[in-house]
Amino acid sequence: MTVLKETLIREIKTLQQKKNTIILAHFYQVPEIQDIADFVGDSLALAQSAYETDAEIILFAGVHFMAETAKILNPAKKVIIPDLEAGCSLADSCPPEEFNAFKELHPDHVVVSYINCSASVKALSDVICTSSNAIKVVESFPKEQKIIFTPDINLGNYVNHITGRNMVLWNGSCEVHDVITVESVMQLKKEHPDAKIIAHPECKAIILAMADYIGSTTSLLNYTKNDPAKKFIIATETGILHAMQKISPDKEFLIVPADETCSCNDCPYMKKNTLEKIYLSLEREKPEIILEQELILKARKPILKMLDLSI
Ligand code: 13P
Ligand code: SF4
Repeated sequence: MTVLKETLIREIKTLQQKKNTIILAHFYQVPEIQDIADFVGDSLALAQSAYETDAEIILFAGVHFMAETAKILNPAKKVIIPDLEAGCSLADSCPPEEFNAFKELHPDHVVVSYINCSASVKALSDVICTSSNAIKVVESFPKEQKIIFTPDINLGNYVNHITGRNMVLWNGSCEVHDVITVESVMQLKKEHPDAKIIAHPECKAIILAMADYIGSTTSLLNYTKNDPAKKFIIATETGILHAMQKISPDKEFLIVPADETCSCNDCPYMKKNTLEKIYLSLEREKPEIILEQELILKARKPILKMLDLSI
């Protein structure tokens, strides 16, 4: 590590203590951010952690909808994000006005929304879910209950397949997971026939059909820890490799490349955050997530319902 980086990390730690700040980081952050965070997790664990913290400031090293969720769950806290431009293609694929019109076409349906959506879409929902609890949340409704699932069509299809439901799906997707191709998975499998294929449910159905295991970020991590296989082909975002390698240093992890020009599969939004931006946001206490009280109240209900179902 360079002297500059060491100094930056020291300064972040000093500021963090002085300002009573918790640093939460998603598994898709770069390794150096994961290493300085107080807590690293998937979307569900991060939401739970933001809800429970008594720190005065929450610095969210993730993407905008995650920081927004933290603010909704713990509105008395100041929530800051290193880069306000850290968005999410999946959340953007569901504009609230269009979704509201879609919802009006299905008046007898309840709305289950994947957490990767804006606060305004959450406010239009009956319950929120993440990739780790989507099946449980959907199954909390009686079989005959009609459901709209938004915004991820791949996760929606997967949940329909597992639960035997016939949810109406919004046609949104993640630009990182949705582009993973059969050819690139097959190529890696050809080169490493002894490797197990594991995939995030935001991938297309055809990729999920090839997988030995499907799960949320944390669930994939646990699988690589507990499964006896020594090699894994990973169909998700590159950032998770850091935790996998840390937990299982004797195992080999092969990320499915986004395309033939790159050996990685990085989320451009998650990767907007840097140590430098974390330092600056902590020093200036901004960019801050500001939401109207009315929106907080409306969006909070379905998120709390999810947290209750996740106990
Ligand atoms: P997790 O719920 O697995 O953390 O996924 C979040 C995400 O953005 C996946 O692209
Ligand atoms: Fe959004 Fe996809 Fe990035 Fe996750 S990986 S934050 S779903 S764009």
